[in-house]
Amino acid sequence: MKQITKLLSWKKLKEHSADISKTTIAELFVHDSKRFERFSIHLGDMLFDYSKNPITKDTIRLLHNLAEDCDLMRKIESMFIGDKINFTEKRAVLHTALRNTKGKPVKMDGRDVMPQIRAVLTHMRHFVESVHSGEWTGCSGKKITDVVNIGIGGSDLGPAMVCSALEPYSNFGIKTHFISNIDGTHITETLKIINPETTLFIISSKTFTTQETITNANTAKQWFLKKIAKHEKDIAKHFIAISTNEKAVKKFGIDPRNMFVFWDWVGGRYSLWSAIGMSVALQIGMDNFEAMLHGACEMDTHFRNEPFEKNIPVIMALLGIWHTNFLGKCSHAVIPYDQYLFKLPDYLQQLDMESNGKRVNADGEQVSHSTSPVIWGNAGTNAQHSFFQLMHQGTQVIPVDFLAATQSHNDIGEHHKILLSNYFAQTEALMMGKSESEAREELEEQGLSAEELDTLLPHKVFPGNRPSNSFLYKKLTPAMLGAILAMYEHKVFVQGAIWNINSFDQWGVELGKQLAKQILPELEGKSTVTTHDSSTNGLINYYKKNR
Ligand code: F6P
Repeated sequence: MKQITKLLSWKKLKEHSADISKTTIAELFVHDSKRFERFSIHLGDMLFDYSKNPITKDTIRLLHNLAEDCDLMRKIESMFIGDKINFTEKRAVLHTALRNTKGKPVKMDGRDVMPQIRAVLTHMRHFVESVHSGEWTGCSGKKITDVVNIGIGGSDLGPAMVCSALEPYSNFGIKTHFISNIDGTHITETLKIINPETTLFIISSKTFTTQETITNANTAKQWFLKKIAKHEKDIAKHFIAISTNEKAVKKFGIDPRNMFVFWDWVGGRYSLWSAIGMSVALQIGMDNFEAMLHGACEMDTHFRNEPFEKNIPVIMALLGIWHTNFLGKCSHAVIPYDQYLFKLPDYLQQLDMESNGKRVNADGEQVSHSTSPVIWGNAGTNAQHSFFQLMHQGTQVIPVDFLAATQSHNDIGEHHKILLSNYFAQTEALMMGKSESEAREELEEQGLSAEELDTLLPHKVFPGNRPSNSFLYKKLTPAMLGAILAMYEHKVFVQGAIWNINSFDQWGVELGKQLAKQILPELEGKSTVTTHDSSTNGLINYYKKNR
């Protein structure tokens, strides 16, 4: 395929971006009384409003043309039917099969993958229910009360985020903890607050070779053996593994009967739906875990079947491309006005930036356009009191996703109304801003002297015209969360498909890992290190002198 920047649809969008820049989003509302209806979509219990973006009907038509020129429809189907679209690793990308609760066959290399997926779900259910019922106990016969997931990246961020998000569904007396960082502080502080007799460790690693995870898992094993185990075999009651690598799991000392498998066609950052979700299932129960899969499956059906103009992930992706490639925005904030989703931005950082942080296209050429923006964010209203200043008056314009529930799990006093008034206010303030004359009027009402007014005035102006998407969902249920996460996954997929990059490999994380392995032995002993550049040598030698 030729570079996308050479496509006619790309060139037309470039021309169109110059026209759009002559107007403001607020003006577009003035000229179109139906703008909200035109640029919003209802799907089940969710409303997606994208009208506060610098777009017109023409923008959307041109973006759809781009999607068609990039063969998006075929690419979407190609993922769902198990083509090996992760071409650098020669793998299919079938996380959608993991939540194919409708049960239709999904073939990969001519074989239906659904029976093995269902078998693991049954294995998980049996295990989760035996822990909940107390049939499964620790080695001293006590019920499990604490679950510690040891994993990193996709083997941590998804389950950790979901466990926080679905806290209201934790009805089984299980508290979940997450250890990811190789920094000994992480495991030390966690081990301080758990009782080895009632703790289950889940070693979550697709490869079972990740340095951080295996080091943390060994430390946990030694701690457990030292604290309570009478025999090595007691480990079987306290350590289970989630992996694709049975050999390494056995070598670590975990009974393969306590291993829950997944497959190389599940990318690490897309693995939450597999047995990697074990900590989630233990915390909220298997029925709720499956409800989450079902919610994601509903979003998959929507994504696969709806025409582009009604397809939420496609529209989100195209808007992102519009901002990134045509309006020059290089970051994107996600602000959930839902405390339960405070870990969502962290999770989306890996999903988006590990997937689309690429600079070479499918033909091995360097792309001539930007790819993934920097994804970041935090929960509202906290974020308003930290970085929103920059979003309102800084020199960069940052497109934002605002998410909120219409019904709170904790509807106490005025809290939810106040939360939502802020949610609505921020999207409006970012778009409308405050003009110089409005700011002047306000200052005049305060009875300031002319000099004071002139000094303050420029600081009180908000340029506005700052875009946002708004998502309002009824309640953060397991199904709704599943749908939201699948929606973001598909947004990332569409952007990768249009940019013609491989969203499913992550070679970029390798170089640092390789170098760390070389440096580790150099940290032994007292000899001065001279094998690197002078800065790296200097830093290593300073550490060696000062440790
Ligand atoms: O470092 C990148 C990465 O491979 C991620 O893609 C992955 O989610 C993480 O490491 C953990 O990998 P694993 O599950 O194999 O331990």
